[in-house]
Amino acid sequence: MELTDKTAEQIQQTAQMGEGKSYFLYTFGCQMNEHDSEVIAGILESTGFTAAAGPEEADLIVINTCAVRKKPEEKVGALLGTLQPLKEKKKDLCIAVGGCMTQQEEIAAYIKKRFPHVNLVFGTHSLPRFPQLLERAMLSRKTVVDIEEYADSREDLPISRRDKFKAWLPVIYGCNNFCSYCIVPYVRGRERSRPMKEILAEARSLAREGYLELTLLGQNVNSYGQDLPEGHDFADLLRELNKVEGLRRIRFMTSHPKDLSPGLIDVVARGEKICEHFHLPVQSGSNRILKLMNRRYTRERYLELVRSIKEKIPGAAVTSDIIVGFPGETKEDFQDTLDLVKEARFDNAFTFIYSPRPGTKAAQMEDAVPRAQKEERLQRLAEIQHGISQEINAELVGKVVEVLVEGRSKNNPEMLTGRTRTNKLVHFASPEDLTGRLLPVKIIEARTWNLIGEMVSGEETV
Ligand code: SAH
Ligand code: SF4
Ligand code: F3S
Repeated sequence: MELTDKTAEQIQQTAQMGEGKSYFLYTFGCQMNEHDSEVIAGILESTGFTAAAGPEEADLIVINTCAVRKKPEEKVGALLGTLQPLKEKKKDLCIAVGGCMTQQEEIAAYIKKRFPHVNLVFGTHSLPRFPQLLERAMLSRKTVVDIEEYADSREDLPISRRDKFKAWLPVIYGCNNFCSYCIVPYVRGRERSRPMKEILAEARSLAREGYLELTLLGQNVNSYGQDLPEGHDFADLLRELNKVEGLRRIRFMTSHPKDLSPGLIDVVARGEKICEHFHLPVQSGSNRILKLMNRRYTRERYLELVRSIKEKIPGAAVTSDIIVGFPGETKEDFQDTLDLVKEARFDNAFTFIYSPRPGTKAAQMEDAVPRAQKEERLQRLAEIQHGISQEINAELVGKVVEVLVEGRSKNNPEMLTGRTRTNKLVHFASPEDLTGRLLPVKIIEARTWNLIGEMVSGEETV
């Protein structure tokens, strides 16, 4: 990737920093964080660092954190504890902790105090400054902290991508929605759309390098363009990306139901590269809870959207996120969620127990639902959803689907794993490694989480 003069100069100054050194990167959280880690890896590699096989071998350990629920935060605390003895053994090991969790002032201060073996604490806006921060941290005896909210452009930062045939492509950073339970707007800042020409240039360059699939990322991709002077919206962006030669699949996530326009559904229906999959988190089926969550749609409007997607795009997949045990959720509210799930018939849904996030509105609401009851609700919801996923997957048995092969199956090295356009995992036997190829696969068995298939004549669809 081309570097601007300014970034090139900054990296130049720190160019020798990683010579002969290696790094190990831990990533928690969502796809946006995974992509941020690709940028961190890109920056490190451009200053001479190489990837280490494990934390013990590394000279630098970077932890990219997530704050969306308590669990990922606890994991980071535990990880920092286990790294302490490593640091004692290896005095010049450098440890950097950054991302959504450390963007919160109290947490950054806590880490500095509780884990003095951490050299650098950085936030979600710090990536353009990362080389200088790291250099300072490597020279300083004290923990360097940078969680400033100003962000220079990220456009020209180097990226070291994990895959060779599918790529993350952020289109909008931040979130303006302030759902009452959610920490993301506080730790990721206000919405900032990338200029369309930058996104198109990156997409074209990825296509030239042989990438077949792009996943457009944003907390709410439907807000794309609202902050840009050009007046483009997300549907315009998709239409343009659909024309990029060489690309075969375009995915996007996440769509906020309040902003999903009929125009966008039409673009997905018409764009031959745009995959028929909407990740459309509903969060709750109760209008009362949706209001308390500040989601700004009703269950009726949500179900109408799902109907419209399925009507305009037969075979489209709709997946969702659902929170149980939001403060004050009654039996009736929860029943509304179960009813919605049965009516919407999601291909899959991620289900979470509400986790209070300090500083959010919901954290101040009275949370009277006992833990055991929340767990029981989660269980009931998951059972219903699993049954539906299984039924929907069963409809694919006997059909031939297009699969982009991602690699060998983790559990069975004789099988390859890939995804359909609707984002379903397919495992199929193949002696040959066909990673990165688009193939027709016949589905022979449906499971809740994945499908089993067999290759059809080995013909490629590329
Ligand atoms: N921007 C996306 C989702 C970001 S977070 C969207 O608006 O849909 C991913 C999911 O985590 C959310 O959809 C929600 O279901 C869940 N989540 C967010 N905050 C949570 C909390 N405090 N407790 C439990 N789940 C939460
Ligand atoms: Fe969080 Fe809501 Fe923004 Fe999604 S849209 S990141 S749930 S505040
Ligand atoms: Fe977590 Fe930050 Fe993503 S809080 S879910 S890593 S935006």
